[in-house]
Amino acid sequence: MRHAPRPDPAHRLDLSQRPRRNRKAEWARRLVAEHVLTTNDLIWPLFLIDGEKRRVPVAAMPGVDRLSVDEAVREAGRAVALDIPAIAFFPYTEPKLKDERGSEAFNDGNLVCQACRAIKREFPQLGLVTDVALDPYTSHGHDGLISESATGEVRILNDETVEALARQALNQARAGADVIAPSDMMDGRVGAIRAALDAEGFLDVQIMAYAAKYASAFYGPFRDALGSASALKGDKRTYQMDPANSDEALREVELDLDEGADMVMVKPGMPYLDIIRRVKDEFGAPTFAYQVSGEYSMIMAAAQNGWIDGDKAMMESLIAFKRAGADGVLTYFAPRAAERLRRAR
Ligand code: PBG
Repeated sequence: MRHAPRPDPAHRLDLSQRPRRNRKAEWARRLVAEHVLTTNDLIWPLFLIDGEKRRVPVAAMPGVDRLSVDEAVREAGRAVALDIPAIAFFPYTEPKLKDERGSEAFNDGNLVCQACRAIKREFPQLGLVTDVALDPYTSHGHDGLISESATGEVRILNDETVEALARQALNQARAGADVIAPSDMMDGRVGAIRAALDAEGFLDVQIMAYAAKYASAFYGPFRDALGSASALKGDKRTYQMDPANSDEALREVELDLDEGADMVMVKPGMPYLDIIRRVKDEFGAPTFAYQVSGEYSMIMAAAQNGWIDGDKAMMESLIAFKRAGADGVLTYFAPRAAERLRRAR
């Protein structure tokens, strides 16, 4: 390396700047790296399921299982060992527990509450994020309460839903949730949840708002994992955002911050890096990206076919979020990325 042959003067370009000089060796690249990913940036979403000692694979998400609560406690221990700051829960709900109004959301013994209690007992130092939205629990698969006309047309009722979401959030806070993450996209829900939490003295429970959440095809594998796909009547385009919009994302984020959100999120992740950048630049608030199920599955599927290097694609996708301005990422890759980061140390 040090004694690389001098180029023949006859071919030498007269360049004052050669950007490649800063890339010539690993140590030099490390010195000029602008962004780093650490385990501090990761939130690990887990799927829950009824039963004991049970792990049920999610077909469309290789390497991801639905976990019974005891198994979730074990994975929480893994998160602690890997230095992952927080985990998030999503429940697969047995069809017999689903109804029109999503009643199971208010049951203080539901899977999410059970997991919060069990994990808080074992690992009080781990942050617990709970999702607020009714879709795991409704027979129609929507995030909110609906009214259906005689012709079968479904409307999602905003204000009635907000009331239900505030109850759901309280149920989670009482079980020990540290961060309430409303993913429903109803108008006014952040303010209502903040008021409900404060009224019960949960002044320290944070709100991470899914502020700019798009109506996306990339949620497909997640809906399979939850069993909410086959149930879904119609689509979510009257509450989730149009992928064509960007200014609207800023208005959504501004409202959520005004209503008391402590952190905001953009979702999905990789197709929306421009939105993360705009949100971070405009508000400077703690900003998170959700690398959603479909993004995970695409990388895994290509890797399994031998078409890309899965680990490298994973790390590249994660640093892209940091570069775009995200403070952290919700990702199903969290444990794998954390293991890789540890090996690299
Ligand atoms: C439900 C919710 C969804 C996701 C998180 N919370 C799906 C949806 O809105 O239909 C998607 C997560 C993923 O795809 O990984 N409110």
